Amino acid sequence: MALWSGRFSSDPREDVALLSESISFDRRLYAHDIMGSKAHVAMLAKQGIIPETTAIAIRAELDAIRERIEAGDFVFKTELEDIHMHIESSLIAKLGAEGARVHSGRSRNDQVALDIRLYLRDRIDGLTDALRDFQQALVERAAADPDAIMPGFTHLQHAQVVLFAHHLLAYVEMFERDRERLIDCRRRMNVMPLGSGALAGSTLPLDREAVCRELGFDRITRNSMDAVADRDFIIELLSALAVFGIHISRLSEDLVLWSSQEFGFVELDDAFCTGSSLMPQKKNPDVAELSRGKSARLCGNLMSLLMLCKGLPMTYNRDLQEDKERVFDSLDTVELILKVYPPMIRTMQINREQMQAAASDPALMATDLAEKLVEMGVPFRDAHHRVGSFVRYCREHNVALDKVPLAEMQISIPEATEEFLTLFSPEASVAKRDIPGATGYRQVAAQLAFWQEQFK
Ligand code: ARG
Repeated sequence: MALWSGRFSSDPREDVALLSESISFDRRLYAHDIMGSKAHVAMLAKQGIIPETTAIAIRAELDAIRERIEAGDFVFKTELEDIHMHIESSLIAKLGAEGARVHSGRSRNDQVALDIRLYLRDRIDGLTDALRDFQQALVERAAADPDAIMPGFTHLQHAQVVLFAHHLLAYVEMFERDRERLIDCRRRMNVMPLGSGALAGSTLPLDREAVCRELGFDRITRNSMDAVADRDFIIELLSALAVFGIHISRLSEDLVLWSSQEFGFVELDDAFCTGSSLMPQKKNPDVAELSRGKSARLCGNLMSLLMLCKGLPMTYNRDLQEDKERVFDSLDTVELILKVYPPMIRTMQINREQMQAAASDPALMATDLAEKLVEMGVPFRDAHHRVGSFVRYCREHNVALDKVPLAEMQISIPEATEEFLTLFSPEASVAKRDIPGATGYRQVAAQLAFWQEQFK
């Protein structure tokens, strides 16, 4: 029998109960629901709204319910709809009239707003820690080969020589912004909604500040209608997780390319790959592919929440119950990726010779020639043009840039000197990029030191 059965002449239809229920997924909120109810009843007693003995009995029974849920001894029933009603009915079943006082001054609207904030706060803390571990794995992998050279790409075309470590550290920056976005989102989420009631607050003298302190929130919500209607803290979280998804998808794409026969830059550990049921030689980078694929659901979940909230009249609407599965799914997805990725990065082997060979394409050093001309006083556009015609000359004569004698180079680049012939060394090319943020050895060492300091 539903807790509001006073108003209704019959129980809901079975199919309607199936449509209404959220217990199959919101049972995850049990611990936070109990935490919120314990703080609520302690406050009710302090304010003289319920007897102290009742508060003590309710708090003890709430602990017992949590233990029963954790032991798997708690019976969940579709008819009881959600986690809030399950816990309240169980209290009433055990404590009778005393249990029936727990919901004083409270609605499920402010209750669920409280529970989800408490729950997400904890999950965000878990994710920011996991992101740190992932960043650490990338930094360790970069530090293990601080001088490995590879071609850097734009448009997936050979562009300029870079350090492999520099490439990995670019991702560390992206994941740092993802971490900051989560921390920022947590700050806006950490506001206490209880006491907003169904939408208008309460006639009872609730001490909202006491509940706020007890539950570790930064402040109480200012407007009761906003407090029960708002889900933008979930939209923000899903947005931060979708951006993370895009970053992990790009890294995954790099790994898929790098582990292909065409690149052959890295070898992923067997634990993170699978074979083919048909082709005996195959070793596929499934973890990277699946992570790339899962970014689709992270984006989809964000879209779901945006669409869910669009056009809802003030204040709470039952539609909002649909927020949970989407946010749980994104959290679980990111959590799983962050479990699998760090060991995959830590165990990833690189093929330095293959990377070096690809980076030895002298065309990668064309910019270095142009910049040498700039140093000699040639305007950059002219320098660019001269080196461009030199590259065309080499293509037309089917000769590598570094195999052309000086006299021939001077046809396109009259200013060229003997020194120009030394500019095709990939190591020298990297070393010369020595300004902050550049890929030079000294600069990348400084980046590594920066991150190692952050992790202390
Ligand atoms: N299960 C509901 C949800 O997740 C709880 C709030 C229900 N409130 C209501 N007035 N029916 O949104």
